[in-house]
Amino acid sequence: MKESRDPLPVPDLPLEVDLIAHSYGAAVRARGATSLGVGWSTAEVQMLRLSVLCDLLDAADPAAPVTVHDLGCGWGALWGLLKERSAPLISHYTGYDITPDMIQTARRTYPGDGLRARFVVSATAEEPADYGFVSGTYNFSDGTADSIWEPYVEESLRHFLSQCRKGMAFNLLHQRRRTERPMYYANPDRWQRWLEAEVADRGGTVWRREDYLEDDFTLFVRFPDPREPI
Ligand SMILES: C[S@@+](CC[C@H](N)C(=O)[O-])C[C@H]1O[C@@H](n2cnc3c(N)ncnc32)[C@H](O)[C@@H]1O
Repeated sequence: MKESRDPLPVPDLPLEVDLIAHSYGAAVRARGATSLGVGWSTAEVQMLRLSVLCDLLDAADPAAPVTVHDLGCGWGALWGLLKERSAPLISHYTGYDITPDMIQTARRTYPGDGLRARFVVSATAEEPADYGFVSGTYNFSDGTADSIWEPYVEESLRHFLSQCRKGMAFNLLHQRRRTERPMYYANPDRWQRWLEAEVADRGGTVWRREDYLEDDFTLFVRFPDPREPI
């Protein structure tokens, strides 16, 4: 960690990602806990992406509380959805984000939730949870070449996967709606193949959705219960 004038620590990041964190910091300072504050055009598309990610919980035992973490949590919109859920109950949520202003805004947004939710400045999940979610985290690449961005995304997801016991879901911008904006537009087949290879040794089942927004897709993986035979 390097020192900063910010009261929260700033993680050591590759240069591209450091600049990206500065841009997100400016957005949330200007727009607060809104969709624009995390770079989504509207609250509807932000929430639709998050609710699609939550499909992952549909097959969970509704009676067994689960722990969840969220990489690139922004100001915690996902926690706003999950905290109301009762089947399964989310017993504990951790949101991680590289942008200290996001984490400060998240803590201000949910001041009374400290027993069930915490928000941490970090580029990685620091401990395991049952389910992991990643929404929009790798979209803004600031024009970084795919040859640099894709290995970075793989490394980030690989570590996150290792901290997810039961399943994980992430979304990316779909290449069918590529624009001139400095975003990463992904090929869903490429990422599905990557994910399948990554989780094969854990017996993970992979599926995807690309039917909810033209410019987005979501990949899911569920792991078998370690107590049951694969
Ligand atoms: C498009 S915003 C989405 C925020 C939130 N997931 C939502 O949907 O409301 C992307 C967020 O990811 C964070 N971020 C980007 N790269 C990250 C990384 N490698 N690790 C953790 N957070 C990251 C940014 O700071 C930003 O808050």
